[in-house]
Amino acid sequence: MNVPGLIQFDEWQDGYAQRVESMRTSAVRDLFAAASRTDIISLSGGMPNINSLPLDLVSQVAADAVLKEGVSALQYGDTTGRVQTKEVVATLMHDFDIHINTDDITITTGAQQALDLLGKVFINKGDVIITEGPTYLGALQAFSAYEPRVVTIPFDEDGMLTSTLATELKRLAQNHIKPKFIYTIPNFHNPGGVTMSLERRRQLLELANEYEILVIEDDPYGRLRYSGESVPCLRSLDAKVVYLGTVSKIFAPGLRTGWVIAPHPVLAKLNMVKQGSDLCGSALNQVIVEHYFKDVDWRGNLAMLARHYHARRDAMLAALEELFPPEAMWTHPTGGFFVWVTLPPYMDTTQMLPTALDRGVTFVPGDGCYPAGSGLGKNAMRIAFCYEEPAKLREAIVRLAEVIEDRLKLYRAFIAAGVLKR
Ligand SMILES: Cc1ncc(COP(=O)(O)O)c(C=O)c1O
Repeated sequence: MNVPGLIQFDEWQDGYAQRVESMRTSAVRDLFAAASRTDIISLSGGMPNINSLPLDLVSQVAADAVLKEGVSALQYGDTTGRVQTKEVVATLMHDFDIHINTDDITITTGAQQALDLLGKVFINKGDVIITEGPTYLGALQAFSAYEPRVVTIPFDEDGMLTSTLATELKRLAQNHIKPKFIYTIPNFHNPGGVTMSLERRRQLLELANEYEILVIEDDPYGRLRYSGESVPCLRSLDAKVVYLGTVSKIFAPGLRTGWVIAPHPVLAKLNMVKQGSDLCGSALNQVIVEHYFKDVDWRGNLAMLARHYHARRDAMLAALEELFPPEAMWTHPTGGFFVWVTLPPYMDTTQMLPTALDRGVTFVPGDGCYPAGSGLGKNAMRIAFCYEEPAKLREAIVRLAEVIEDRLKLYRAFIAAGVLKR
């Protein structure tokens, strides 16, 4: 019998594969349970604010789609996705100066499935892969099942530090290690909020070409820019790049529809393992996506969503400026959902979380965005501005500033006593 809240003895505990040992559940997922308390303001989840999507219109699209497409919307389909969905994706990609055919694309169950498939086809146990540090914790979860060694490269406001990447690649080459791929989120990074400059993008591609390393560009937020000039996608600069897209942040994550664009040999391998994974994605969801992007003013809806996010970003940055202590540093996103906050090295954000929950605010502790056991990110946190209204965001920052201030008192006393260096 399952008793809620009671931890059950696991009679299979010696039976699990070793890879499961190195995996961990997402801190964010675990926090969603707590965040459902009505008094909590959530800065933890990256859930898009789809409350303002016109539901009557979307349900009309869904109903029409089934009627128009008939049983094919309810049948098994091609593993690589419906050709009509791929046509829609190919058209969407024109906006990013990416010109492809339907056979360059596989439709996946969200970009998340593409990450898992890429891990499955590329990573042997112990292989080195390179990511930004911090990086998307869902990518770490997907890749960790295949037991890689993850080398993380820090970023600044201009994205991944390509000078550090160059040093790492040289060091690895000297040790005869060739990384399997470089995984990057160049636009409005999750969790970093930063965007890679054009110069860094060029440097990254030069290094990848020099050392013959595959680049994976994960781009769920590319259309959510609130200020500044757009920067070309890596895939538009180099056709060898594997590009991941999704409708999750520009339409609805519940449709679980994403895509991967890759050179044909890579795509063939991905399609092969995808068969074993799900036979094919949901035809019904793909049909809804097709009709939404063909029949509805999706650009208008997206512009409306972006206006909401823009106001929220401004509210959060203003509140941080006004309320956070001088010891805190944070990024200044020009789009996307997230701000990355760094506190003095002595601070531990995981330890702060229970107090924050008590005061009714959640965030993602930074160490979850680094490979397990790296010891990095303890003094950092990801705060999301996508989900809450501007007034609530300000209130959340008021509460969080108090929690940080409490901890800082001890830190400042240590500094004053000369026990810690600034
Ligand atoms: C960087 C990044 N990649 C991939 C995903 C997964 O997206 P999807 O909903 O398409 O699976 C997310 C979701 O938050 C993300 O932030």
